[in-house]
Amino acid sequence: MGVRAIAQMELPPRPELFDFHGVSMVHYFTDNWDNVQNFQARPDDILIATYPKAGTTWVSHMLDLMYFGKSSPERAASVPIYERVPFLEFCVQGMPTGVELADKTTLSPRLIKTHFPVQFVPKSFWEQNCRIIYVARNAKDNVVSYFHFDRMNKVEPEPGDWPSFLQRFQEGKMVFGSWYDHVKGWWEKKKSNPKILYLFYEDLAEDMGCELDRVCNFLGVSLNEEDRSWVKQAVGFDAMKNNSMANYSTIGVMDFKISPFMRKGKVGDWKNHFTVSQNEEFDEQYKLKMADTSLCFRTEI
Ligand code: A3P
Repeated sequence: MGVRAIAQMELPPRPELFDFHGVSMVHYFTDNWDNVQNFQARPDDILIATYPKAGTTWVSHMLDLMYFGKSSPERAASVPIYERVPFLEFCVQGMPTGVELADKTTLSPRLIKTHFPVQFVPKSFWEQNCRIIYVARNAKDNVVSYFHFDRMNKVEPEPGDWPSFLQRFQEGKMVFGSWYDHVKGWWEKKKSNPKILYLFYEDLAEDMGCELDRVCNFLGVSLNEEDRSWVKQAVGFDAMKNNSMANYSTIGVMDFKISPFMRKGKVGDWKNHFTVSQNEEFDEQYKLKMADTSLCFRTEI
């Protein structure tokens, strides 16, 4: 059954979190573990790695358009993002797994998405020396986006109310584990691996042209001026929100009546959610948890 055929599919009740090799997970992303770990990466595969809600779809769509937007325009116009950029560990009954979708991809390079913390990445990606683009988003906006996502996404655990969700985020009891461990783990890996480009959501929001050039340099892609501005325009928030091949409106596991996938796309939306005391407490814990890293987020924009 194609991914798009699941629109009417009934899903079982919301999954429970459990500890998986020290990381909180739900079964949808561990059920295919052996196949995922044995996945055969190709040397030109490009892995897009993120903590959930950090801008995965944004960068996935950007890369797909950079490589294939002009050569295969029908692809961008008719194939949803979750098929153009398979989600490696995804495994929901009645739908193709991420591994199956990646395996049947004939285009090159293959673009593959993962939310795994760095230690879960299948070894073939390292053996093949694949290029990896990691995207990180500031913790406060990331948790707000994750909260709204869990409200509407049936393959995620019930979010509960905002205060308890925020508490769980700080404890790392989220699907794919602790935001802190994730962003720091990938940051450490990047220091010794020049094949990893570490991007920030806030930089993409502030200057897409500059970030697009960085990505092109990293990947060795050259876009002429016309294509560059076409990609820039196509990855704008409104363009993606109104594009059914980028906005997840064709997938059946999300309830857009509760919240859209392309929700606000803003830096600083956390200010509309955190109370003053939640913010103070968050800052205190943040300082402690980030004391052991050189990784720094821009919070001024
Ligand atoms: P919000 O919930 O804050 O709106 P992911 O793709 O990793 O799940 O991330 C989703 C988040 O990225 C959502 O954040 C979504 O709106 C935002 N996003 C997606 N495309 C975007 C774009 N073109 N510009 C800005 N933000 C975008």
